[in-house]
Amino acid sequence: MFDAYTATWLHLVARWAHILTGAAWIGTSFYFVFLNNSIRPPDNEQDSGAKVKGVVWMVHGGAFYRTTKYDGAPEKLPTTLHWFKWEAYLTWISGIAMLALIYWGQARAYMIDPAVADISTTQAVLTGIGSIVGGWLVYDLLIKTLWKHPKLVSAIGIVALTGLAYLLTHTLSARAAYIHIGAIIGTIMAANVLFVIIPNQRVMVDAMLQGKVPDTSKGAAGALRSLHNNYLTLPVLFIMISNHFPFTYGSSWSWAVLVGISVVGAMGRHWFNLHEQGTKNRWLLPAAALALVSLAFAMKPADRIVAAPSESAAAAGPAWSDVNAVFQQRCVTCHSATPTQPGFPVAPLGMMMNTPEQISARSEDIHEQAVVLKVMPLGNMTQITDDERALIDAWYKAGAKTE
Ligand code: HEC
Repeated sequence: MFDAYTATWLHLVARWAHILTGAAWIGTSFYFVFLNNSIRPPDNEQDSGAKVKGVVWMVHGGAFYRTTKYDGAPEKLPTTLHWFKWEAYLTWISGIAMLALIYWGQARAYMIDPAVADISTTQAVLTGIGSIVGGWLVYDLLIKTLWKHPKLVSAIGIVALTGLAYLLTHTLSARAAYIHIGAIIGTIMAANVLFVIIPNQRVMVDAMLQGKVPDTSKGAAGALRSLHNNYLTLPVLFIMISNHFPFTYGSSWSWAVLVGISVVGAMGRHWFNLHEQGTKNRWLLPAAALALVSLAFAMKPADRIVAAPSESAAAAGPAWSDVNAVFQQRCVTCHSATPTQPGFPVAPLGMMMNTPEQISARSEDIHEQAVVLKVMPLGNMTQITDDERALIDAWYKAGAKTE
């Protein structure tokens, strides 16, 4: 659709906007959760007996602030009422723009892993879009039917996330599966704002403007969605950055890793919520830390433990010319000063493999990505064979010599 140069610029702008609006969204959302958790009974005569639920005192930037939370609606609406919604909408729009540019637009490279499933680019893109739309519809239905049982909803949520992670990592490339689960959760969060939280607030405000008593059950429905958004924040942020850590999605248990780290994130968030409410909890943080350490050990691939190459092993290593031939054929189409692979105008992450010095300098990363995790070549577009991976492995273990 676009030439590669324009696409890179669009990508930069979308990513910038995404991080900017995402930071604003999460910032306001954490701030309001903090306010709700930190509300304490009113501390002066004037407020007691009035429709005041509580107040929070804060000091920031050299000034003192006292924020009041109302029980239901205040007596009178002020002329200026601030709404918080564009942060959510723009985060979603910029996120979907990136997903479309990188993943849907370059589905062969980013969404398909021939070792996982033999699907067409159309099937891959439809799986991605379908899971995002379907994810929201199922979540919304679940809440509408089971809103009286929030604990059951959470349990079903974790099971559903596990099932989804398993299914997607067995259909798409693990990297695409991760980012789409992030997009599904992000869509649920943004749609909660668009379809429930904001409309319900609007109904309450409109009722007040007409002098009627607002239906506060509307507010309660929005509050449940807000609470979900709060717990989903840390998992979704982890998933977004996981793309920079191939050992997460590249693990052979990638779906379980995703669920594990997501649950740890939600535990951390829960500790913060309790802490802000003034409840001491002694086990959540240690348990989360223990879970992370166990995960780190469980994920460590056996071949990561590489013994220092011995003299005899070095002598027995494959010929450099054979190994270099594999690199030049399977990697340099992208990792070059002048890539030949369409859609890759510059070397990805600036990594080039044209010369022996460049290869030698990155031998550890090359081994990790092409042999241990098998996430390179991207989408195996250059059709590396298992024998060739084994050759790189033997070369690396014999000391990664480039002569
Ligand atoms: C179709 C294009 C393509 C091919 C072919 C390809 N790569 Fe990559 N490679 C990429 C992209 C894109 C990235 C950046 C991924 C990211 O953004 O995290 C990358 C990243 C890497 C990285 C991480 C660099 C860093 O700084 O973190 C390594 C290592 C790597 N590739 C090794 C290889 C090896 C070894 C081969 C050949 C066996 C290969 N690649 C073939 C596209 C390709």
